[in-house]
Amino acid sequence: ANVHHYTFIIRRTPITRLCQTHNKITVNGQYPGPTLHVHNGDTLIVKTYNRAQYNATIHWHGVRQLRTSWADGTGYITQCPIQPHGRFTYRFTIVGQEGTLWWHAHVSWLRATVHGALVIYPKRGSPYPFPQPHAEIPIVLGDWWNRDPEVVEIQAIRTGAAPNISDAFTINGQPGDLYPCSTSGTFNMSVQQGQTYLLRIVNAALNSHLFFKIASHNLTVVAADASYTKPYTTDVMFITPGQSTDVLLTANQPPARYYIAASVYTTQPVGKFDNTTTTAILNYEGSQSSATPILPQLPVYNDTATVTIFSRALRSLASPEHPVDVPQIIDKSIVTTVGLGLLPCPTGMTCGGPNNTRITASMNNMSFVLPNIAILQAYYFGINGVFTTDFPSNPPLVFNYTGDNIPKTIWAPVFGTKVKVFNYNDTVQVVYQGTNIFQADDHPMHLHGYDFFVVGQGFGNYNASTDPLTFNLVDPPLRNTVGVPLSGWAAIRFKADNPGAWFLHCHFDDHLSWGLNTVFVVKNGPGYLASLEPPPADLPRC
Ligand code: C2O
Repeated sequence: ANVHHYTFIIRRTPITRLCQTHNKITVNGQYPGPTLHVHNGDTLIVKTYNRAQYNATIHWHGVRQLRTSWADGTGYITQCPIQPHGRFTYRFTIVGQEGTLWWHAHVSWLRATVHGALVIYPKRGSPYPFPQPHAEIPIVLGDWWNRDPEVVEIQAIRTGAAPNISDAFTINGQPGDLYPCSTSGTFNMSVQQGQTYLLRIVNAALNSHLFFKIASHNLTVVAADASYTKPYTTDVMFITPGQSTDVLLTANQPPARYYIAASVYTTQPVGKFDNTTTTAILNYEGSQSSATPILPQLPVYNDTATVTIFSRALRSLASPEHPVDVPQIIDKSIVTTVGLGLLPCPTGMTCGGPNNTRITASMNNMSFVLPNIAILQAYYFGINGVFTTDFPSNPPLVFNYTGDNIPKTIWAPVFGTKVKVFNYNDTVQVVYQGTNIFQADDHPMHLHGYDFFVVGQGFGNYNASTDPLTFNLVDPPLRNTVGVPLSGWAAIRFKADNPGAWFLHCHFDDHLSWGLNTVFVVKNGPGYLASLEPPPADLPRC
């Protein structure tokens, strides 16, 4: 195994998109940030300097961080942010994960521009479980905001209004030909006819699920969230914020130029979301460079059927070389609502939600409040008063969460910093129950420090006696982010074998800011190898 040394300098950089130049916060002046290439088993040492006049952290999205919760980079959960002029070195090892993950800032909405791909090749000397591709191309999907996303966030929190929407979607940082002033930067991918390519696709957009398609070509999914899947061939892909998907693309069409395109999936009304399409170009060698590329037909924005087909098609590879170990017996079981709600506007204030309310978000009626000291530090050093351990394991009310006529007054979340504590090696099942209390959404639920099996999903209310009979306990997909179906539920399982404090949250940044979060604290097991490492000496203090 190798050790990779990187230097990340977080700083403001002028970036021009859509005919406007703005000083955006970047890593090393790049947007998206640098792609890192490592092998399963390698160690990364990332010296991070904050020169941005803005608190920052770097989170290694999906990296398990076995025993190194301190390096998870989650502001106020595993570390206090790196303050302006401060620095911190992230050290961690990739254990057992192969495919694509990514990194992003985990403070405020900084991740809009502070993100990049993390490519994890197989263990040195091991092959892919699919034919060696001719070349590999990271495809980072994101969104561009003319405003400072940090300012958009503050406005959404302060007024409780739905935040502004993005001004463009992007492929590798570029909006593409269909937007003004964007043609010259459009991402171009050159291919040779007959060759097969591995696309490593990440959805780094702040608040948007995306459909992804390439005109006239099929895609074969071979990995998701850095775990191999059974090959699944489709002409359209769906990806929630936080997810990564590796697909094989064979250049088997007549030499020409084809658009690669992505657009939103949402059930919001038109006008409330970014309804634009980002494109890149798949360019066959020898094709006419002046020819207009062929545009794929993307699904319409509210095509839930396509989302459902795609999400249910994925299976773990579960081969002898890549076995899976799905927990069959459960020690700790949680059912938690995930959803939005409305709060009355405090007197003397004007709020931006419907009828002068504030939009809020919660899990089991608890709207999470970030503490002032990192939870992991408070836990490790025994500092009292930072969090409580009473995150409820069941919803406080049982009713038809996904019906149409839910009285808006029924759900007034309490604010708190309530975490859930697990013993080492507990087998855990979490059922996320979506609610339609205010606005149905399918929430991309992300857990730090773990890969989990998505054992089941469905529409309507979860039924604890019949739905478990339908669970896939043989080859469910292993992920770090699951899209909870719209007006439905999803069930995950994992073994709590990684001590630390692990953020669990909706990967829509607006929902995160409104409190759709909690923390899973996992205790040490017996012995050194089942224990959290001591904190690094340079860990930032609050
Ligand atoms: Cu992409 Cu809390 O993470």
